[in-house]
Amino acid sequence: MEQDRSSQSRPPHVLVFPLPLQGHINSMIKLAELLAIAGFKLTFLNSHHNHERLVKFNNIAAHSERYPGFQFKTITDGLPLNHPRSGSWFLDMFEDTMELKMKESLREVLVNSSPPVDCIIGDGFLGFALDVAKELGIPIIFFRTSSPCCFWVYHSIPDIIQAGELPINGSEDMDRLITTVPGMETYLRCRDLPTFCRKLDIEDSSMKLVVKQTRKSLQADALILNTAEELDGPILSQIRTKCPRVYAVGPLHAQLNTRLNAKHGESYDHFSNTLWEVDKSCIFWLNKQPNRSVIYVSFGSITSTSREQLVELWYGLLNSKTKFLLVVRPNSVIGKDGEGEDVVMELMEKSKDRGYIVNWAPQEAVLNHPAIGGFFTHNGWNSTLESIVAGVPMICWPQFADQHVNSRVVSEVWKIGLDMKDVCDSKIVEKMVNDVMVDRKEEFAKSASEMAKVTNQCVNVGGSSYSNLDCLIEDIRIMSLKTHKK
Ligand code: UDX
Repeated sequence: MEQDRSSQSRPPHVLVFPLPLQGHINSMIKLAELLAIAGFKLTFLNSHHNHERLVKFNNIAAHSERYPGFQFKTITDGLPLNHPRSGSWFLDMFEDTMELKMKESLREVLVNSSPPVDCIIGDGFLGFALDVAKELGIPIIFFRTSSPCCFWVYHSIPDIIQAGELPINGSEDMDRLITTVPGMETYLRCRDLPTFCRKLDIEDSSMKLVVKQTRKSLQADALILNTAEELDGPILSQIRTKCPRVYAVGPLHAQLNTRLNAKHGESYDHFSNTLWEVDKSCIFWLNKQPNRSVIYVSFGSITSTSREQLVELWYGLLNSKTKFLLVVRPNSVIGKDGEGEDVVMELMEKSKDRGYIVNWAPQEAVLNHPAIGGFFTHNGWNSTLESIVAGVPMICWPQFADQHVNSRVVSEVWKIGLDMKDVCDSKIVEKMVNDVMVDRKEEFAKSASEMAKVTNQCVNVGGSSYSNLDCLIEDIRIMSLKTHKK
């Protein structure tokens, strides 16, 4: 269908297309909202399944009122309706037939879009969006929602293999330094690489997929990263040697808060993008606790724990000198025949005086609550950034994807937490919680609050991320004028 690109007076129309996972939606929707504040028309492309949950647990009418030019559209995630979509289900999306279904649906949305889409901001994990964009002559910018450090490690994997530093020999010292990732020579160890690098097989399909998607991200017109120059400067310089147009505009949740405050004043309601029902009762519980006395424990939206791991964590927390707020998502404890759910009920009963357990928390509000003194986290990139912005030190228990690299940077480069990677032992949990919350409390509180100060400055007027977002907005305007003229 011939698209009408003649009108030059209308605002640019941007389509934002995330991988259909909570962690990806969170940061991409925030970017979309920031572009809507700049006056752009926005189409946010959700999967049918996620949109149903977004509508169920959020006030979509209030969202439309706040962002009049913002519309949601939905497409398939490629999976059959009865697919359980739990555990590591998302890997199924990368099978060729699923990808083909999503690719066709994306094409259809773009071809039928009115006004025409002037620019696509695609999730860097959905490389096929580049092929569709090229075919239709629409500029595309990729957004990688994971950390820049991990993006750089993914990119470097072929070089690490070439240098003979991979595969890791099963019996060797996991603390061996990896020296072939430029900028990380002094701190990246075997155990900090993404978990698929632990396999002996360098032809592993997950590894190949990630490398392929990462290299493809660099073929887009530009790359957006959810970080700030002050946080990841040295690695951003490395990435810019491969892709000159990199916009570091994060942390996006903080940048959105800054711009919403400026527009509506402090009193605006926070809009959440949650795909689970939020249990706000934990805020009332936190209100009754002394300042910086509670550790918040949560492992994001995908990670599962075994029954044994949860019990170790719980004993460590219980034996420590501190209170805890623990998130256990429904169906996230792996055990036989409902054993997982039983253990949660049992722990809830036994921890009444020392802790509070919820299925899903309002995480940003929790981390900014004065009662919180530490975050026991899996180091998903959103969680890591949310903790940094709130000035909360971390205990890191990484599980997959970018999390092993992130925890190394948190503990070794930024020195705002401890890394509990590769172990789950109640004694170690207890020791680390006591270190962060009691014995070394002031040391960690100081480093975390300094980091928070620097990071929050980046998203204020004149800060690096604030200016980079202004550049991105201007560049999309220019791009869309060129597209109109075609
Ligand atoms: C995944 C990857 O782990 C992450 O590293 C990648 O960058 C994005 O996709 P996830 O594992 O869910 O995401 O972790 P994370 O990135 O931390 O995102 C979880 C989000 O859910 C956070 O924004 C957090 O605020 C929110 N959350 C989590 C809640 O709102 N309530 C909760 O109880 C738990």
